[in-house]
Amino acid sequence: MGEHHHGPAKGLTRWLYTTNHKDIGTLYLWFSFAMFILGGSFAMIIRAELFQPGLQLVHPEFFNQMTTMHGLVMVFGAIMPAFVGLANWMIPMMIGAPDMALPRMNNLSFWILPFAFAMLASTLFMQGGAPNFGWTFYAPLSTTYAPPSVTFFIFAIHIMGASSIMGSINIIATVVNLRAPGMTYMKMPLFVWTWFITAFLLVAVMPVLAGAVTMMLMDIHFGTSFFSAAGGGDPVLFQHVFWFFGHPEVYILILPGFGVVSQIIPTFARKPLFGYASMVYATASIAFLSFIVWAHHMYTVGLPVAGELFFMYATLLIAVPTGVKVFNWITTMFKGSMTFETPMLFSIAFVFLFTVGGLSGVMLAMAPVDFQYQDTYFVVAHFHYTMVAGAIFSLTAATYYWLPKWTGRMYSETMGKTHFWLSFFAFNLTFFPQHFVGLAGMPRRIPDYALQFADFNMVSSIGAFFYGSSQILFLFNVIRTIRSGRPITDPKVWEGAQGLEWTVATPAPYHTFTTPPEVK
Ligand code: CU
Repeated sequence: MGEHHHGPAKGLTRWLYTTNHKDIGTLYLWFSFAMFILGGSFAMIIRAELFQPGLQLVHPEFFNQMTTMHGLVMVFGAIMPAFVGLANWMIPMMIGAPDMALPRMNNLSFWILPFAFAMLASTLFMQGGAPNFGWTFYAPLSTTYAPPSVTFFIFAIHIMGASSIMGSINIIATVVNLRAPGMTYMKMPLFVWTWFITAFLLVAVMPVLAGAVTMMLMDIHFGTSFFSAAGGGDPVLFQHVFWFFGHPEVYILILPGFGVVSQIIPTFARKPLFGYASMVYATASIAFLSFIVWAHHMYTVGLPVAGELFFMYATLLIAVPTGVKVFNWITTMFKGSMTFETPMLFSIAFVFLFTVGGLSGVMLAMAPVDFQYQDTYFVVAHFHYTMVAGAIFSLTAATYYWLPKWTGRMYSETMGKTHFWLSFFAFNLTFFPQHFVGLAGMPRRIPDYALQFADFNMVSSIGAFFYGSSQILFLFNVIRTIRSGRPITDPKVWEGAQGLEWTVATPAPYHTFTTPPEVK
């Protein structure tokens, strides 16, 4: 009694109790990187099994668990928390706020996540194994035929959803209430805008996901038949509910990435972003359209033709605002004084490769031909162009771009560029051949395949091992920067880099004044 602690908390206590948006941002980023490694190692097991046709390495049942866990960990554990980490670090600084609007809730949003994913990962060691029904967990496969661990999966999804909803409410509250005087909505940096819109998507669809898993829980344990035809329910209902969440979800995974490259390209082109207002409206249009296209994932369930056509036209409409964005990024670069530092390389690759993913998306959106592609590797190729070259490349670009601001130290550009070229080459080696095997009819989520697909699968696996191992270089570069990178106050850092100091070389101060006052 009577003991008072002065000064900032140290060690574990600092990280457990922190309400500082930068500490919490750092926690999110390291957590998501750990999940990226975990989800990546599941992918390595998948690619190792698919290195050759035949069943050689893992039991087919375990293979199904790997495809499921890979998707779940990457979507909910790696990409989403990484963007929340960026939001925590950058949004308050970009709008001139001292911290997030709800700092204690911010702490809670992060700290429930490790429990959710520890629980999800622990299902691997449970009787019957981990969930084995794909990241889309279609009923009745995920209800009637699921392993007992599905109950823990449902709980993990609930916790993760609560975390996302709290994080989004915090971002909305911060942007609405804590903008500095003069920072009107149409002056906000694009990263803030894209996250602001993303936060509304999250608040709208995470409860839908919670509804889907709750109905599953009821069907499994409490005798209801939401998704069971035998009891008067409808398995297709599951797909409607899931994709009403799932399609906006894939935009949740990419819109903040749009924001990131909209910050980076103007910097290294040394020109203001072309078409700021159209970028904002395009993002909002994509967000709106994302709610009315969900059944493009369900063309083969037997929808009425009018329904197929509605969802086809609505989906194709998304190409318009997306095209506006790509046009704006390219026009920003046009006649700019461009240099090609690591963040810029990843951003240009993003624009190019995300467009490739967008074009295969247009192919998949067309209902008559989707009957050919449904559940093939073509779909896998498509969404990895949007999720890896889109979401992950933009996250990588953002890390290189803002690392000097976060740490006050410069990363190794040589190592960064090496990391880029290895990633770019290995990514395409992995996923481009999957277009071909998909079009030729190779189904997804399968541990064995016909001999005709052998060569492309071997190429794909070699690319995947390359991509995976080249991320060690990224980790090494980041750790080296934090521990011993050249201080950004050193003029050597800026040799031959005219005009960049202004955007990068202001280290972020640690806000001590955001610590909540002691309650007397
Ligand atoms: Cu979709």
